[in-house]
Amino acid sequence: MRVLVSMGRGGTGKTCFIAMMADYFIRKGETPLLIVDMDPDQSLGEMIGIDLEKEGKKTIAELIEETFIQKGGTTIGIAPSERIEERIWRDGMYEGTNFDFISIGTKWVEGCYCMPDAALKNALSHLIRQYRYVIVDAPGGLEHLNRRVTAKVDAIFDILGPSSKSFAHIDRAIRVTKESGIIYNHLFTVGGYLFADEMADRIRDVAGTRFLGTIAADPLVASSALAGSSLLGMDPYLPGPASVTAIMEEAGF
Ligand SMILES: Nc1ncnc2c1ncn2[C@@H]1O[C@H](COP(=O)(O)OP(=O)(O)O)[C@@H](O)[C@H]1O
Ligand SMILES: [Mg+2]
Repeated sequence: MRVLVSMGRGGTGKTCFIAMMADYFIRKGETPLLIVDMDPDQSLGEMIGIDLEKEGKKTIAELIEETFIQKGGTTIGIAPSERIEERIWRDGMYEGTNFDFISIGTKWVEGCYCMPDAALKNALSHLIRQYRYVIVDAPGGLEHLNRRVTAKVDAIFDILGPSSKSFAHIDRAIRVTKESGIIYNHLFTVGGYLFADEMADRIRDVAGTRFLGTIAADPLVASSALAGSSLLGMDPYLPGPASVTAIMEEAGF
């Protein structure tokens, strides 16, 4: 089971990329997948065609709030993250044929993700189903991809925006992963759909990373994202999905 994580500044196309990555694995039959939405935006559900609320499922933050705040739950002696674990499986996990899906949800206490992170980590360490890949859509800030959630990551995909801040972002990404003690096998850089190809040569030189290519700007991806419709099952020969296929193959998946 390999954990793959997206990273990058807001609006670079991370969530669309994650959805197309999921579609890539589904097309190849490399399933089941566990798709994890860690972005408070919670736009990933729409992009993979899952409305958690309609499915009767709740985000981890909602479950934590219900369990520990509204009910004042104070089960003495058991770590909150352990108490919540069972509820995450039962009430938080969407289960599908090709993939399961959970969302961490919005922050439950202003400025602190600690509790959902811990609950998520605990739940992830007791996975019931054997997944081929765990795919995580991490927030732009990337602070939340830390040891509290998962210590071992196979590949990080840093999605680069058009500005030179992307370079600073890579340096920061390397620093943050070191500081947080995350162990990863690969730190890949990927040009976002707005990435300027002239920047590719500079990106290639960043030590400790490998540039995989650029996500194609695709009008159907843009209109689907706008309409809130699923990116799964798109024609794989369209520019967006085809570019993601090339990127994933370059990465060796
Ligand atoms: N490959 C693409 N082609 C065209 N537009 C895209 C593409 N990827 C993302 N977009 C546009 O960018 C917006 C933000 O994408 P999103 O994946 O949500 O970014 P992030 O998760 O990095 O904040 C989308 O709503 C869509 O309009
Ligand atoms: Mg996003």
